[in-house]
Amino acid sequence: MDEKKTIFSGIQPSGELTLGSYLGAIKNWVTLSEEFNCYYCIVDMHAITVRQDPAELRKRTLEQLAQYIACGLDPKKNTIFIQSHVSAHAELAWVLNCYAMFGELSRMTQFKDKSAKNADNINAGLFTYPVLMAADILLYQADLVPVGEDQKQHVELTRDVAQRFNGIYGEVFKIPEPYIPKVGARIMSLTSPESKMSKSDKDPGGCIYLMQRPEDIMRSFKRAVTDSETVVRYDPENKPGISNLMTIYSIAANKSFAEIEGEFAGKGYGDFKLAVGESVVELLRPIREEAERLLKEKAYLESVYKEGAERASRSAARTLRKVYKKVGFVGR
Ligand code: TYM
Repeated sequence: MDEKKTIFSGIQPSGELTLGSYLGAIKNWVTLSEEFNCYYCIVDMHAITVRQDPAELRKRTLEQLAQYIACGLDPKKNTIFIQSHVSAHAELAWVLNCYAMFGELSRMTQFKDKSAKNADNINAGLFTYPVLMAADILLYQADLVPVGEDQKQHVELTRDVAQRFNGIYGEVFKIPEPYIPKVGARIMSLTSPESKMSKSDKDPGGCIYLMQRPEDIMRSFKRAVTDSETVVRYDPENKPGISNLMTIYSIAANKSFAEIEGEFAGKGYGDFKLAVGESVVELLRPIREEAERLLKEKAYLESVYKEGAERASRSAARTLRKVYKKVGFVGR
């Protein structure tokens, strides 16, 4: 019996990976990866809920794979795979669709936001997106789901659907817990610090990307929105820009908020922004260099996602078989 806890998480290849997804999610994935039985997925099926250019999607999926590994996820110790390679995700999602309620899906914040942003394409997939996410998590009987703050509501829905299903059929699914970092769960845009840093952001200056060049990272930090006070102090309500930069710096340079306030007491925002930018450049440099190297190793990347899909399929099939039996499908 495998006594290790199971972890599942995923990121959509719908845009370049950002500093937000790194600090909110991937950084925790790496910490957990040594100790637990981890499944890390590139959720391409989620990505098509918003229209994608096919060639771009294919390219970004492979880039994301290289970046996962470059961030420190060892494919020998973790199951890294592409969602569309494991058909059980779509199959379980269908079953769970019949146990998720219209009302609860209508209340999902991400659905409301994305519908507003894509008013000409409010497709059914966008609406049932959280059900596919529930299938991702429940297939592997995950204990923990390391995500940023914005995905907490979806993990709660997953718990509700799993509990409803278990209530009818007995203990089929493990009930997962969200695992959200204390600092970095919600990194904000550098240009509009009241909204989340997001890979689909229309303002590229607000976002820092994992693969960005040092000079571009520095430029974005130099232009980051601050406030009219000149005190480096953590106060997200009144100083969202500075507080966001402090959060980023605190993780990148491994310093507490008190230490940062002390370091920049009596200094201007210019010095502070430079320090934050430099810490992020150094944080991301090894990741970018390793990802660039890996991207040239096409055969290696292919072997990683093929092996990952095989391992994931084996584990997913066990849950799916149980579910099919419980709901009354005739066994094959
Ligand atoms: P996605 O692709 O939007 O984001 C990937 C992960 O990064 C986190 N994140 C952030 N954290 C802090 N600050 C930010 N600005 C920021 N932006 C993104 C997200 O919380 C997420 O953890 N639905 C998911 C993908 C998914 C998934 C799953 C996650 C599909 N199936 C199963 C976990 C388990 C999504 O759209 O994440």
